[in-house]
Amino acid sequence: MKTVGVVTRGTTSVRRLRRVERWLLGTYPALLRRPDLLAVDLGYGAVPVTTTSLHARLREVNPTATVVGLEIDPARVQAAAAWASPGLRFERGGFELAGLRPHVVRAFNVLRQYDESDVSAAWSLMARALAPGGVVVEGTCDESGRLGAWVALDGAGPRSLTLALDPRLPPSAVAARLPKALIHHNQEGEAIHRLLTDLDAQWRGLAGLGVFSPRQRVAAAVRALGGLGWSLLDGPSRWRRAELTVPWDAVAPQRSGATDLTGESARSR
Ligand SMILES: C[S@@+](CC[C@H](N)C(=O)[O-])C[C@H]1O[C@@H](n2cnc3c(N)ncnc32)[C@H](O)[C@@H]1O
Repeated sequence: MKTVGVVTRGTTSVRRLRRVERWLLGTYPALLRRPDLLAVDLGYGAVPVTTTSLHARLREVNPTATVVGLEIDPARVQAAAAWASPGLRFERGGFELAGLRPHVVRAFNVLRQYDESDVSAAWSLMARALAPGGVVVEGTCDESGRLGAWVALDGAGPRSLTLALDPRLPPSAVAARLPKALIHHNQEGEAIHRLLTDLDAQWRGLAGLGVFSPRQRVAAAVRALGGLGWSLLDGPSRWRRAELTVPWDAVAPQRSGATDLTGESARSR
């Protein structure tokens, strides 16, 4: 099987993807508790600390979970072998997922280093390899994991966008961490720009709440989006964590044919 992708910088850090792990556990509780759960951490980088973290978090709720760290760089696969433990192993693989049929794929800070035109094929390959009912979470975050954004997708295409905000900063600070499919579209006329602009406006208007709690301020700003016509796929407990999830269709780029798994361009929909 041909390994699809290219070796890129291996930057990573401990705890970087903890927010994504909490979100996965909260959003897919039944899937993650399957006795035969197979999860892939794709592109774990120079040291597999995000993979060991995913394994530990999943094993807390599912003692039979198996996690495979896949990396395209053979040297990184070899170096990771020392981190293997029951239910945790490392293999060479790319977007084709090395012949595995996982229920969950997390690919973080991987596509960031590719061209936007590569996104569609990468999403499609990963989604096609999923076990039935599985999900791919593809996104980007800063080195500390305080700011991030990710797309959840399956065989039918992209489903949602989640923004993980830093409650101390204006919501649009997340713009620098948008997934590859959106990062070049944060401009006038695009839905993602309108979402971040609306969020910032609400957040600015709620400055008084920030005196008590920056998290309350963000949560109130997210709640107010509903009144502006945005549909939100999650609720107050996530908003208090400074996270929000919207349907992908609400933020899909206007000017790209690169993000639709069906091959139909976003403009023609
Ligand atoms: C910046 S590191 C990200 C590490 C970790 N996921 C994180 O978020 O901290 C990106 C890693 O992805 C690997 N990579 C790039 N393309 C890949 C692909 N198609 N399949 C598997 N690994 C890939 C690179 O070799 C690199 O080690």
